Amino acid sequence: MEKGKCGRIDLMPKKAKTDYEKLSDQIRFIACENESNVIELLDTNSLGLSEIDNEYGGHTLLKLSYLNYYMGIFSRIAKSRKDKGGFSKILFVDAFGGSGLVKIRNTNYSVLGSSLLAAMNERFDKIISFEKDEERAEILSKRMELLCPGKFEVVKGDVNINIEKIVKEQVTARTIVLFFIDPEGMEPEFVKLKTLMKKTLYVDILMNYTWGVYRLQGRIEKRFTDNDIKRTQSFLPGYEVGDTPDESLLSMFEEEFGKPFGNMVPINSIGNKTEYSMILRIRETSGGTSFIEPMKSFGKIIGNYDGKDCEAILRTVKGDQAIL
Ligand SMILES: C[S@@+](CC[C@H](N)C(=O)[O-])C[C@H]1O[C@@H](n2cnc3c(N)ncnc32)[C@H](O)[C@@H]1O
Repeated sequence: MEKGKCGRIDLMPKKAKTDYEKLSDQIRFIACENESNVIELLDTNSLGLSEIDNEYGGHTLLKLSYLNYYMGIFSRIAKSRKDKGGFSKILFVDAFGGSGLVKIRNTNYSVLGSSLLAAMNERFDKIISFEKDEERAEILSKRMELLCPGKFEVVKGDVNINIEKIVKEQVTARTIVLFFIDPEGMEPEFVKLKTLMKKTLYVDILMNYTWGVYRLQGRIEKRFTDNDIKRTQSFLPGYEVGDTPDESLLSMFEEEFGKPFGNMVPINSIGNKTEYSMILRIRETSGGTSFIEPMKSFGKIIGNYDGKDCEAILRTVKGDQAIL
């Protein structure tokens, strides 16, 4: 039995949240419809939505919800491990950082992107974001300075080129890392990104696995240009013509980064069209994987909604549409 706000004993058991409520809670947080008022704070500091910010469909809210849900679980476990001793710091490494805000298509609203979501989580000791586009990197830096001064680094440039130097400077064998890999296409070169996983065992990876791989594979099957094959091999080392990219990716994860956790979670845009999948890979956990079991059921919830549902939920949490 739990004590209520006034010290009395609550006899009524808490009603379990529905899937819709669980997803809405995440979207409410990402859209800052809570006491944080971060979007307002950015506006008043002339750092609100601008043309530099990426605009994506409502399905982006599914990706960000999945990330934010995992950030909560990951950071709790990481913090309790660090408090017990033996670990130096907890990092969020955002390989494809963006500008900090994302405009949601077909709505009047913007939401927090990955790096700003991490900035809201005080259990991270530092957030390191890579962003190739200079203007996006610049505004991300200013937004982070406002939200978590002294706790971030924005690296302007290609993550594949800069990761090695950052790992050398910032990561030791006793650093706990959540590595978020969120490209638009096939930009990540895993041979380079592996530098991080080599330095510490305590890295969890959450990755947006793009379906662009399939488009490239289609081209390879038709024309077999050497360049296409090389491009796929830099994304997926070990890929050979005739392999399906899914198999290559999963076997690379198993061999080099450990087993993926749970199934790939499809991120569906309007009309249930799968745009990409999220893959979660957890290498080292304390006390088994029971803490992270809820990710499996939350992943199922994510897979059952699409971009249109998310647009509607966003309007609802913003107060301009009746609840579905
Ligand atoms: C899908 S967006 C990231 C969105 C971001 N994670 C968020 O939640 O707001 C991908 C970003 O990666 C940047 N980018 C593309 N190639 C890159 C590279 N090689 N290194 C670093 N950033 C890159 C793009 O400019 C773009 O802003």
